[in-house]
Amino acid sequence: MEKREQLYEGKAKRVYATDDPDLVIVSYKDDATAFDGLKKGTIVGKGAINNRMTNFLMKKLEASGVPTHFVEELNDRETLVRKVSIVPLEVIIRNVSAGSFAKRFGVEEGIEFSEPTIEFSYKNDDLHDPMINDYHAVALKLATWDELDLITRYAFAVNDLLKAEMRACGVRLVDFKLEFGKTSDGKIVLADEISPDTCRFWDMETNEKLDKDRFRRDLGNVEDAYHEMMKRVMGAE
Ligand code: TMP
Repeated sequence: MEKREQLYEGKAKRVYATDDPDLVIVSYKDDATAFDGLKKGTIVGKGAINNRMTNFLMKKLEASGVPTHFVEELNDRETLVRKVSIVPLEVIIRNVSAGSFAKRFGVEEGIEFSEPTIEFSYKNDDLHDPMINDYHAVALKLATWDELDLITRYAFAVNDLLKAEMRACGVRLVDFKLEFGKTSDGKIVLADEISPDTCRFWDMETNEKLDKDRFRRDLGNVEDAYHEMMKRVMGAE
């Protein structure tokens, strides 16, 4: 597979064309941003960890019936994926109160919900990714009702698998963000990444944060947290 011109550069990844119009290469960076790019930094080794953890989890998801964009890991930082147009929605599942949920509703972090919640944000940094409901998303033609139904079902299925994976390695899956894409033949697949950048992971015993909140909140030991998660999830791999 030949790597061709860069198609896109995001905050954490670059996307390159290949000689196959239906396949692209994603390349994970060590760059970290928060608060819509206002806060910038580097998390050494993050690109490789996020790439490898995402692929590890996407393979399991694919096997459990959630279609993904994953095709083949090329090296530590780069992965061949199906080319999709990203549905401009951030799909957020929460099992425990934290972050913007705690802030918006004036509750403390760490309250375990009896059922997971789902919400959507409109992916638009200029507007600060505002929360959006399903009617608004359909009105803005960001997705159809059928696509939103499918996305919702997939997102809860991801939660079931991810929660079990994390429980097995002593991690509490607090919340996470997913993005979905549409292939050239109109199929909805899970895209983007599943990593400490996009999930909140708390140690089950101590509630120590093992994710990007260490960077967002200047808690220190950011790299250690990413390495710890990699070790727990992927073991000796
Ligand atoms: P929030 O509590 O800040 O809304 O974040 C919910 C989850 O989404 C959390 O696991 C972190 C993740 N997230 C992203 O992946 N990208 C983002 O831009 C934001 C704000 C959150």
